[in-house]
Amino acid sequence: MQIRPFAIERFYARWEFRAEWMLSSSDCETRPLGELLALEPNALQRLSAMRLGYTEVAGSPELLAAVSALYEQVAPADVLTLAAAEEGIFTAYHALLGSGDHAIVEAPCYGSAIELARSTGAAVDLWQRRYEDGWAHDLQALEAQLRPETKLIYINSPHNPTGTQMERTVLERVVELARERSIVLFGDEVYRGLEHDPAATLPAVCDLYERGISLGTVSKAHGLPGLRIGWLACRDPSLLARITDIKLYTTICSSAPSELLVALALRHAEHFVQSSRALVLANLPLIEDFIARRPELMEWVPPSAGPIGFPRLLGVEDVAVWCEQTAERASVLVLPGTVYDEPGHVRLGFGRAQTAQALERLDSHLA
Ligand SMILES: Cc1ncc(COP(=O)(O)O)c(C=O)c1O
Repeated sequence: MQIRPFAIERFYARWEFRAEWMLSSSDCETRPLGELLALEPNALQRLSAMRLGYTEVAGSPELLAAVSALYEQVAPADVLTLAAAEEGIFTAYHALLGSGDHAIVEAPCYGSAIELARSTGAAVDLWQRRYEDGWAHDLQALEAQLRPETKLIYINSPHNPTGTQMERTVLERVVELARERSIVLFGDEVYRGLEHDPAATLPAVCDLYERGISLGTVSKAHGLPGLRIGWLACRDPSLLARITDIKLYTTICSSAPSELLVALALRHAEHFVQSSRALVLANLPLIEDFIARRPELMEWVPPSAGPIGFPRLLGVEDVAVWCEQTAERASVLVLPGTVYDEPGHVRLGFGRAQTAQALERLDSHLA
């Protein structure tokens, strides 16, 4: 398998635990284990009595039930749980794409959505969104990219890195285009629940379309990335069976304690999601104020969903150098757009409790 290095994760591998102030993370404030265990009276006892054996390949029945309850049309048998959402992209692509196939990937995007598609040997086209167009989705451009051998379309809403959401009419048209050609629609929905206005939440792709696959996780809205559990939900059993066959070569099954804890968290999902959303909404005006005070440095399309935004950086020759220097000198971590092949931008994150302090530090560094 030929694969280009994962630029986003390489940057974080170098900096995430070195810089003092995180100002770009895509996960929300993380939670202590005790907070989960306090949610149900017998949780601690169940955890400590648990035998640390292998678990069921698709996930424990308890976890499958908790995940399927998040969707309208999905039964526990329509769910495959994974050791993180990242494994879902890998296994689905390698199950469903190969040389001779064609995939279309919404861009910019989380790097693995492109690089893992390429690593299967499939031809990959990018459905490119542009800052100049307000990050709009160009449906005509998507339609022009479709080929007889197109097997999969990847979309991501709420979106990393722009923090925008696909319009509902656009999503419905994408589903129509996929359905007419029996193309798999892979909906990366890992930021679901963090729509700034919950009423604007889109239907899940797996509910809308019988060959739609929804990717979910507790890493973002629930603040539980350390549990490393994600899932795929899909109502076509043949697709899920092919993906499961790849999972047998990656992790076989997930971590037993994590499965228990994630099932527990999902039974109380609103507890986590509501407070993450409240934090995002409290922090967003601080970032808006920061950008408004520095029109010579940054401008953006304001985000409407998720804990991140993707401003354009003005008057800076090299954003990668700018971000490295900011990390080195101010100990504040801003993600350079170069890791998305968008060298004019940086990613800011505002889902963490110390966002105000991180901004203050950045402010004084810039002054
Ligand atoms: C759009 C998108 N998909 C998938 C992932 C992977 O999520 P996880 O860390 O839960 O594997 C991320 C992580 O940042 C992401 O932003």
